Amino acid sequence: MRVIVEKDYDGMSKKAAQIVAEVVREKPDCVLGLATGSTPLGLYRELIRMHKEEGLDFSRVKTFNLDEYYGLPPNHPQSYNYFMHQHLFDHINIAPQNINIPNGLARDAEAFCAEYERMIKDAGGIDIQVLGIGGDGHIAFNEPGSSLGSRTRLKTLTEETIRDNARFFSSMEEVPKFAITMGVGTILEARRCLLLANGSKKAKVLAQAIEGPITAQVTASALQLHPNVIVIADEEATSELKRKDYYAHVERMTEKLKDILASAEGLIYGGGIKE
Ligand code: GLP
Repeated sequence: MRVIVEKDYDGMSKKAAQIVAEVVREKPDCVLGLATGSTPLGLYRELIRMHKEEGLDFSRVKTFNLDEYYGLPPNHPQSYNYFMHQHLFDHINIAPQNINIPNGLARDAEAFCAEYERMIKDAGGIDIQVLGIGGDGHIAFNEPGSSLGSRTRLKTLTEETIRDNARFFSSMEEVPKFAITMGVGTILEARRCLLLANGSKKAKVLAQAIEGPITAQVTASALQLHPNVIVIADEEATSELKRKDYYAHVERMTEKLKDILASAEGLIYGGGIKE
């Protein structure tokens, strides 16, 4: 797991956008796994800027969103479908048929979820999955207690999540109580995961996810099992990490090692690596 600490939200968003843009440039028909919530908004803004100013091309990119509220139509202003169009899709050249978001109105949720899993497989799997982290440590809507092997399914939201989401709705009654979400097992099959976190509200849960035990009580901790995870977080969100200095050291040394390996002397008989 690589942990990159950026000064603030802006730094986190730009770094994340660089990584996603690199995937898009290297593989123009890549499959992106996308997330909603306030955390990735800056990343999406930066991708839009790259599209407009640098010609970043999404015409062959496919996307799969992590989750959707169950019971909200796609044109509901609080649906994740609406969110994704408003904050990303309407501003880039993605082909509408390449956008996949769980259908919050699927009557037969089980059949729909199986189909969603099939569609991800048929698309060749997810190249990079963007993730945020919920206040209770969830990724997507995999609430505490979700099996770490879970697949896309209908999930009952916790009271904490319902409360967290209430700010977007005019009354508690309107806040969805269920969601269709990719499972932890589904997410772990992405080739790479990019976990973003910002703000002091996420500090404790991020430390639990990265440095705590792997547990279904904090489903983001399952990312410790994944061989290719990049965490990008700001200073505030990383304030409770015990090994924060080491993560920064790794980043510096990785850069140095690259330089040394590219130099004529190489590593072993060169001057060694000095900090
Ligand atoms: C919701 C979403 C998650 C997201 C989380 C955090 O629960 N299903 O994918 O990571 O909110 O939201 P925010 O980024 O607003 O803190």
